[in-house]
Amino acid sequence: MKNLMIRPITEGDILPHDLLLSADPSEEAIEQYLPYSTLYLAHLNDLPVAEYVLYPHNTEDIEIKNIAVDDAFQGRGIGKALLEDAVQRAIDDGYKCLLIGTSNASVGQLYLYQRQGFEISSIKMNFFTDNYPTPLYENGIQCRHMLMLTKVLKP
Ligand code: ACO
Repeated sequence: MKNLMIRPITEGDILPHDLLLSADPSEEAIEQYLPYSTLYLAHLNDLPVAEYVLYPHNTEDIEIKNIAVDDAFQGRGIGKALLEDAVQRAIDDGYKCLLIGTSNASVGQLYLYQRQGFEISSIKMNFFTDNYPTPLYENGIQCRHMLMLTKVLKP
């Protein structure tokens, strides 16, 4: 996408709390994975509009733990551009698999991730009902299970 600049967060940047929470409503979970991850910020014409977080599991597998685009900028291809960027960075860093997880109710996200070549690889049953204090809903469906999707990377 033209004019979209994606780069790792640096010391002078403000942490995009609202974006992080829009993808993952658990502040506690974010605090657990963020120190071990790299957060990438996307700027459109110098305006911060999106972020994603890469968390390495080991030398072969790395996961997009959090991905979000500002409401006002959704539906313009930025999410797709973030996923492409994550794939390229994971390939450049020598990883074999890129993972991403989303809920059973996240119909749009499941569409986007599968269109970008991710395949459902496992299901963490009752992940949301066991780990989140209040019930979460998307598209009128309760978020109960975490669907993990994997993209096998080809250098
Ligand atoms: N509902 C329906 N369709 C969607 C949705 C959605 N929520 N998100 C993306 N799509 C579709 C688009 O229609 C588009 O389809 P097309 O290529 O056939 O035209 C395609 O996916 C690409 O869409 P983009 O414009 O690239 O996606 P966008 O910039 O809107 O970003 C994102 C997608 C990141 C999911 C955004 O909607 C968002 O920030 N949502 C709120 C936070 C969130 O749910 N994050 C993901 C949680 S899971 C995790 O973080 C690991």
